[in-house]
Amino acid sequence: MRVLKHLPLALLILILVAQAPKARSAPPQVAPTPPMGWNSWNYFAERVDDKGIRAAADQLVATGMKDAGYIYVNIDDTWEGKRDENGVLHTNEKFPDMKALADYVHSKGLKIGIYSGPGTKTCARYEASLGHEEQDAKMYADWGIDYLKYDLCSFRQDVMQKQAPNDKAEQMRLMIAAYDKMGKALKATGRPIVYSLCQYGWDNVWEWGPSVGANLWRTTGDIEARWQSVYDIINQQKGLALYAAPGHWNDPDMLEVGNGRLSMAENRSHFSMWAMLAAPLLAGNDLPNMKPEVKAILTNRDVIAIDQDPLGKQAHYAYSSGEVEVWVRDLQGGARAIAILNVGSDVNETHPFRLDLAKLGLHGTEHAVDLWTGKKLDLTDNMPIQLASHDILLVRIAEPK
Ligand code: GLA
Repeated sequence: MRVLKHLPLALLILILVAQAPKARSAPPQVAPTPPMGWNSWNYFAERVDDKGIRAAADQLVATGMKDAGYIYVNIDDTWEGKRDENGVLHTNEKFPDMKALADYVHSKGLKIGIYSGPGTKTCARYEASLGHEEQDAKMYADWGIDYLKYDLCSFRQDVMQKQAPNDKAEQMRLMIAAYDKMGKALKATGRPIVYSLCQYGWDNVWEWGPSVGANLWRTTGDIEARWQSVYDIINQQKGLALYAAPGHWNDPDMLEVGNGRLSMAENRSHFSMWAMLAAPLLAGNDLPNMKPEVKAILTNRDVIAIDQDPLGKQAHYAYSSGEVEVWVRDLQGGARAIAILNVGSDVNETHPFRLDLAKLGLHGTEHAVDLWTGKKLDLTDNMPIQLASHDILLVRIAEPK
C-alpha cells in the first residue's frame, strides 16, 4: 500500500484496469460449438419422409447419440411441394404435417432442421425460396424449425448468369446478397435458427460468411462415401483454421461414417479429422440399421470432446513425412490434440514415420492419451509410429511441454 500511495493517480488507474477481470463477450446464441446431429441426404437422399425423420429422432435417443451431443435432426432436399396463390409453400405428400413433425422431434428433446435455397429450384429441382425469403423464413419459425441449410443450386442460372453473364465479380456480389437476404429474414423471425450456407466454398465464403449471419458454410463440393473424396476434402481444409470460431464454422460437409465402402480405419480417420477440424458433426448414415462398430465411432466421447472444445480453434496442418500427415489442434486450458494420419495406400513400413516433436512446437516426452484405445501413450522425439493404410493415431496431451 505504501508503494501505491506514491504512484501517480493515472498510473494507478491503469494498473487497476489492467488487473480487472476481462469483460467476456457473451457466447453466441446459436452454434457456440459446431452443430451436431443427423441429416437425411447422405444415405436416404430423395427417399426421406416423415416416417424416416421420426425413426431417425427415435434412434438418436435409443442409441445414446443424443446423450453424446447429436441434437439436430435435419431434413435435407425433397420435402417441398408447390406454392399456392398466396405464395405459401406447401410440403409434398411425403411430409403431411411439418408442424406436427417438428413437435414430435422437439418432444424427444431434439431440434429440427430444414433445407431450401436462394434460387427458384433446389438441387433436386424442388421449389426453392427466390422472391419468398421472408415468407419462408416466417413459416419455418412458425413450424418451430431450428436450423436452415440454404443451397445455391439454381440461383446460378436463375440470377447470377442471367443478370451478370460475363461478370464474375458481380455474380459473386449477387450470391452474397442472396445469402444476406435470407440471413436477415431468419433474424427477423426472432427465433434462434442455425444458418448453414451451402455454396461449395465459392468466393472464399469463410471470409464473408459471418457478415451474412452464417453459423457455418460448406468449404467444398459434395462429400462421397469413399476414401478419396474424404481425403480430398481434408486436403482442402489446409489454411482455413483462422476462420473458425464460436458461432462460425467451416463445414467440410456431412459425415459419411458408416456409409458406402469406407473401412473401419477410414471411418475412424474421417471422424477424427472432422473433430480436429471443428466441423459440424452431422451423421449421415442409416440409423435404424447402424452396426455397433459404427455407433462406437460416432459416440466416442473423447473424440467428440475434441470437436466440441469450447475454445473453438480448428486444427492446422503441421507437416507430413512420406505419406503421413500431422495435424495439431489447440484446446481449452492449454491442452493439445494431435492427429497422425496415414493417407497412403500401404502400411508405412517401407518409409517408417518418425515423430518430429519440434515441428509441433513440443519439447521432451509428452504424456498423451490415445483417444481410440483410451490408453496412455508417451510421445518421444523421433519415435517410430506405424499406421495401417488410411488409419489414424489421435491423441490428447493435457499438459504439453
Ligand atoms: C447439394 C448439396 C447436398 C444436398 C443436395 C440435395 O448437392 O451440396 O449436400 O443438399 O444438394 O439436393
